[in-house]
Amino acid sequence: MCGIVGYIGKKSALPILMEGLKRMEYRGYDSAGIALISNGKLIIRKQKGKVADLENKLLDGEPLPEAHIGMGHTRWATHGEPNDINAHPHIDCRNEIAVVHNGIIENYLALKTKLLQRGHHFVSTTDTEIVAHLIEEIYKSTPNLFEAVRLAMKQVTGTYGLVVLSSHEPDKIVVARMGSPLILGIGEGENIVAADAAAIIEHTRQVVYLGDGEVAELTADNVTIKTLNDVKITKVVDELTFDLEQIEKGGFPHFMLKEIHEQSESIENALRGRLLEEEGNVRLGGLDNVVEKIEHAPRLIFAACGTSWHAALIGEYMLEQYAQIPVEVEYASEFRYRNPILKKDDVVVLISQSGETADTLAALREAKAKGATVIGICNVVGSSIARESDGGVYIHAGPEIGVASTKAFTSQLTVLALLTILLARRKGMTREQGLELVHELKLLPEKVKAILSDTKQIEYIAGEFKEMKNFLYLGRGYNFPVALEGALKLKEISYIHAEGYPAAEMKHGPIALIDEKMPVVCIAPFDRTYDKIMSNIQEVKARRGRVIAIVNDGEKNIGQLADYLISVPPTLDLFSPILSVIPLQLLAYYIAVARGANVDQPRNLAKSVTVE
Ligand code: AGP
Repeated sequence: MCGIVGYIGKKSALPILMEGLKRMEYRGYDSAGIALISNGKLIIRKQKGKVADLENKLLDGEPLPEAHIGMGHTRWATHGEPNDINAHPHIDCRNEIAVVHNGIIENYLALKTKLLQRGHHFVSTTDTEIVAHLIEEIYKSTPNLFEAVRLAMKQVTGTYGLVVLSSHEPDKIVVARMGSPLILGIGEGENIVAADAAAIIEHTRQVVYLGDGEVAELTADNVTIKTLNDVKITKVVDELTFDLEQIEKGGFPHFMLKEIHEQSESIENALRGRLLEEEGNVRLGGLDNVVEKIEHAPRLIFAACGTSWHAALIGEYMLEQYAQIPVEVEYASEFRYRNPILKKDDVVVLISQSGETADTLAALREAKAKGATVIGICNVVGSSIARESDGGVYIHAGPEIGVASTKAFTSQLTVLALLTILLARRKGMTREQGLELVHELKLLPEKVKAILSDTKQIEYIAGEFKEMKNFLYLGRGYNFPVALEGALKLKEISYIHAEGYPAAEMKHGPIALIDEKMPVVCIAPFDRTYDKIMSNIQEVKARRGRVIAIVNDGEKNIGQLADYLISVPPTLDLFSPILSVIPLQLLAYYIAVARGANVDQPRNLAKSVTVE
């Protein structure tokens, strides 16, 4: 979950490293550090706190000597609390070898014991420091950094995106990958490595995605890649498709608000080139080689985490209603360990914005190991889940920087709707029915624009409820998972306790929580559960609960009951979550801002959970 970057070339390395770290700070932000090699000497500067704090420390201190090779790290602690010593880079006994790492070294204690017996001295409580000493130990007999790193990583179990520097070999960077993302940026007379393309895009669009079990040596003019088993390999050079502007705030105070306001466009991008308007059908090229398998699968199993898991729940409703395919939805973290019964005809669908979430990646590998076909629905192009899937669909939401997922969620739902139409049309849905769905899908971006055109009512309501300690979110049918998502958004950025529930579940317990201090958000569009949710609102009002209702334009009845109304344009039931979730994203955002929370980098969280 950390951000790592490395640079070698003719330019001054430090500014490139600092800029790269700032762009990746959403990955982890409890401490930061850099390492440079200048005049054959390794220079380390690191400390607890944000990249900006490190930058100020560097500016206040002795100017650092010019260097054309270096690496940097922004941390999300897993082993060893965030402090100056546990910050990366970590070094060997003689300050000649330095490493930065993203991931978890699982057998670090066993390795540490061996190295302690060989006289190594450790200063931190991290797992990563072991790697620097392990390389140091091997370098004694194998004085070649590329080789020493390869041999060292053969002894390591766990996950890593690793960058290594050595003052012995000041003209190269060595990197290794297992499980955590690592991208090589191929430049003219310079090369750059990072955990995220955000730190590379400014320098080059030519990238190589390092695979698991691969080690690479980067010099200013060359990149050599080998497997851990010493087999030299040649990799495809890919082109980055997004641009720098997309990862800037575009005049908004926070990335989250910018990304909420990008949803009309991001939904359009998810639909682009995929609607067959004449035939009332859709085309998803990434599934061409597996669509038969999906169509005839005895069941689809979705596995995901967090917001992506909520999207999977809505996908289940869509696919079972329209394509009549049995769907099961699994928490990836449970699925990977519970020895699921999978048959070779089963199809497992992994949903992940980052494409790097460790639990979801492991669920993919578990399913593959059991012979199932695996499909990925991802946002990050070239991510591990995308590359390891048998087929898949990119959601094309563009870079999502805000830790709280927003536009990726509505684009995931859009792609699930496309998948539903694709399979339903293959399983007997008529052209007319298909035309109706395709036509309505095309209208969604405009309806989203209408919601985003005036958010004053939501800002006002947020002001009214910013001091609340608890929230309940209620929904039915397609909007039950939206209630879960609304509650998650509020929890993760405002730190207010919130729960989402199927509205009918209230009577089975949660209704006991209702009084004038409990705000209840009810999602009540004109769908087939409308009358039912209306009576749930009456139950809440009967206990003096304060109701914020998400309704459709033209709503007449609920206005008599609810304390506050937020209306969105009506649409077909299966598409209503794409519209009803947006006011919930905004409500969470404005409440968090009113409470002074750091919306883009909420405490204890990070954008891509690459450790389990
Ligand atoms: C959502 O706002 C959170 N950032 C988190 O729950 C996220 O959805 C989860 O970690 C899954 O991430 P993924 O979609 O990248 O796999």
